[in-house]
Amino acid sequence: MCAPTPGLRRVMVLLAAALVSASVAVGEDWREEGVQYGQVGADVILSCASPPGRAQPLVPSLEVEWRRDRAAALPEGCILRDGDLLLPQAKLAAGGAYSCHDGTGQILRSIFLRLGYLPGIPSVTCRASDYENFSCSWTPSVETFLPTRYITTYRKKLLMGDEKWSRTPSSQVGPCVQDPGRPRTCTVPKCEFWSSYRLNITEVNPLGSSFRLLDVTMQAIIKPDPPEGLVVEPVPSAPRRLRVRWQYPASWPKEPHFQLKFRLQYRPVAHGSWSTVETVNLSEVITDAFSGLEHVVQVGAKDFLDAGNWSEWSAEARATPGPGLTVAPGDEATTDAGLESPAEEPSLAPNPEPIDRSDPMEKVAILISLGIFAFFILAVVLGIASIVWLRLRKPSKDETKKHDFLAAAVRMRALPKAQIL
Ligand SMILES: *[C@@H]1O[C@H](CO)[C@@H](O)[C@H](O)[C@H]1NC(C)=O
Ligand SMILES: *[C@@H]1O[C@H](CO)[C@@H](O)[C@H](O)[C@H]1NC(C)=O
Repeated sequence: MCAPTPGLRRVMVLLAAALVSASVAVGEDWREEGVQYGQVGADVILSCASPPGRAQPLVPSLEVEWRRDRAAALPEGCILRDGDLLLPQAKLAAGGAYSCHDGTGQILRSIFLRLGYLPGIPSVTCRASDYENFSCSWTPSVETFLPTRYITTYRKKLLMGDEKWSRTPSSQVGPCVQDPGRPRTCTVPKCEFWSSYRLNITEVNPLGSSFRLLDVTMQAIIKPDPPEGLVVEPVPSAPRRLRVRWQYPASWPKEPHFQLKFRLQYRPVAHGSWSTVETVNLSEVITDAFSGLEHVVQVGAKDFLDAGNWSEWSAEARATPGPGLTVAPGDEATTDAGLESPAEEPSLAPNPEPIDRSDPMEKVAILISLGIFAFFILAVVLGIASIVWLRLRKPSKDETKKHDFLAAAVRMRALPKAQIL
């Protein structure tokens, strides 16, 4: 049961009443027949008197009785004063249906009390999937338990113009348009790529409002959608090649001065690490695929001048290069066994097929250099053999020459230094 009004608390309760009416004034848009909003933790007053402007029967306050829906007990610590019900530091659980009755039990007024919290500052992110419009989405930072709406506006400034944010209200403040089909998202249409935008996302509920400002430039937030229509095909009679082609994302308006560049990532299905290659074309030939292994390929896009971010990767496409024949194991003459990192995923490839990693051109080059080397060795061996044979044939002539030379050298050393100089 409610305590009788203590004299000392009266001043405090009056103050609280002023606060509550202030927040009600903020939430006037939410005025709904029979619903009263209050803040959790604040003092809430439920008045038995009808709203202003309505004829009300004069009932002696002593005879007023408050009840809750389904005969629930009134909140702990509540105070009955002059017919009003005071809920000091209201708890969330104190929300619900209340009614006040006269002495005969007749209902005088019913109130649905909705308790909640002030809005927090929402967190906002913006993204452009093309260079014409951008969208911002936000998440509330506080669960308020109250009806909420958002006021979303922007101001614009030219990057190379006036440094101040435009303050002329009508021309430069625009709405960030909210689509009921996409809650907590708004779109700024027909943007200028070289302008900067200051977004104001304001969360409003019956207790008050909170806003977040966010400065946005298209170049920073642009992030195309992934390319579409990815196709991967083997190249006939090229066992290490895959031909890949794709299309612009449908959301990207095609104009010559706003183009996209692309990057591919590919790997054998059973292999962990991706290889990547960048291109400005809408097709590419992978030249270092593993013959006979199924490969998975994805493609991403980014603004041609490197503004913003890479798109997400596209959906995967798969293909197997080469004729798809399994080379007989042990045929070492034509194969070079093993992946680049065979230890990486041994469990995924229990029976790794021998993989031909070299180009036909490479093999020809190796054969030619081996031939040249063999020829050189043969020539050297023949040369040495013939010198030895010649020496064995004329030993006397060589020996006399050698002795003469030695004698001359000994004579030179024997001479005094002065004579040599
Ligand atoms: C940008 O928004 C305008 C107006 O809402 C729309 O007509 C146009 O198609 C949008 N541009 C793109 C690329 O979606
Ligand atoms: C943001 O928008 C709200 C609602 O329109 C407004 O009350 C507030 O003053 C704005 N803040 C700034 C900094 O413009």
